Amino acid sequence: MRLLSLSVLGFACGSLAAAATGSSQPTFHKDVLPVLQKNCQSCHRPGEAGPMHFTDYKSTRPWAKAIKQAVQTRKMPPWFADPAHGKFANDRSLAEADIKTLVAWADGGAKEGSPKDAPPAVTFAEGWAIGKPDVVLEMPAAFEVPASGTIDYHYVILPTNFTEDKWVQFAESRPSNRAVCHHIIAFVREPGNPWLKGAKPGVPFAPDHKSERGMGEFLTGYAPGTIPNMLKPGQAKLVKAGSDIVLQLHYTANGKAAQDRAKIGLIFAKEPPRERVITLAAANNEFEIPPGDANYRVDSKIQLHEDSNLILMLPHMHLRGKDFQFRVKFPDGRTETLLNVPRYDFNWQLSYYLAEPLKMPAGTIIECTAHFDNSANNPANPDPKKAIRFGEQSWDEMMIGFFDVAVKADVGMMDLVRPKQPKKGSTGGQ
Ligand code: HEC
Repeated sequence: MRLLSLSVLGFACGSLAAAATGSSQPTFHKDVLPVLQKNCQSCHRPGEAGPMHFTDYKSTRPWAKAIKQAVQTRKMPPWFADPAHGKFANDRSLAEADIKTLVAWADGGAKEGSPKDAPPAVTFAEGWAIGKPDVVLEMPAAFEVPASGTIDYHYVILPTNFTEDKWVQFAESRPSNRAVCHHIIAFVREPGNPWLKGAKPGVPFAPDHKSERGMGEFLTGYAPGTIPNMLKPGQAKLVKAGSDIVLQLHYTANGKAAQDRAKIGLIFAKEPPRERVITLAAANNEFEIPPGDANYRVDSKIQLHEDSNLILMLPHMHLRGKDFQFRVKFPDGRTETLLNVPRYDFNWQLSYYLAEPLKMPAGTIIECTAHFDNSANNPANPDPKKAIRFGEQSWDEMMIGFFDVAVKADVGMMDLVRPKQPKKGSTGGQ
């Protein structure tokens, strides 16, 4: 009797969910495909990062149970912001009704239904997500990725040959082989910056201790799930005449020798921008995480010395990264949590775009707090017996809160991050 009433209850729930989708039993063509088109096919289609393809019934059907589990646990679509803080323009978390539809479909035997009910197939722009680039800078030759072993970060320098300053509104980096590319970061190295001086353009190299240390300005990056940098009209990043693009390439061997030839595409602003967008970082390179520590805290902060508007945030840690938080402290003492990522996942380097830019008067401080799990309970931990410090390889650690701000077009990065010096001849207080 008891059993019977339980199963009646189960049936009632199932039909409720189906009723919500307007049919007696959700079917692939009518109910499921629209959800997949809108939320999943950007990655789950041939040639993209999602290893299985949710484009038709045949390729989706075997994954019905896995889909149910992935959406119920909110493992998919990848989105890690705690909904309690901040509103994000690129929030891709799935609506409750869509989760119900996918779950009811899997529970109801993953029925196909009639192809006549299917929405038209979505056509995705192949190649560049930003549209046709004005300029493409590509590695002159492919990088040879070995079948096994650890591959150091490599760098390749691509001269822009720009003879005038350029304002970049859209930028995208693309590997040619997503199976072995862990990430690409494109930096701008302005003329006179000694970073990696002496390296031959176009030839990938792993810097040695003799290479000049330093860094350029972050321009755009690729990792599975990243969206390219697309700025609003009136905003752009500055690439000065004579600059080089420095690509930082991180490949991971996957058992088969492979090749990759990365490239970046740029689209210039159609008119001089009102605002310059600059990527900054609140980073801490001085930590040491004790072996076995399951919740080691690291903090970082940076003060901004010009008025700015915050556009996006990107937490960056490696395999021991556990959680990450961005806060703002305004000059009047008010503080606010901007982004909380309670379960950080190294596989996803996600940018969180604010729905509305946040005004930050000069003097505002961005603070970040991260925790690391260096215990044996962290399944991603390469070695819980080691003390861990800052380093570039994924078994070292990083603690970087990247963020983009928009400032007046004539403000430079140094104006933002360096405290103002009193002007010569100034008597102060005037
Ligand atoms: C931004 C890209 C992206 C989006 C959007 C996305 N996925 Fe995925 N998905 C991936 C990648 C990459 C993997 C394989 C790596 C992994 O499991 O993290 C994956 C794995 C999966 C898996 C296998 C999980 C497992 O445990 O093996 C399922 C099921 C899945 N996705 C379902 C979905 C569904 C359903 C949606 C939409 C509601 C979706 N994904 C949206 C990129 C994406």
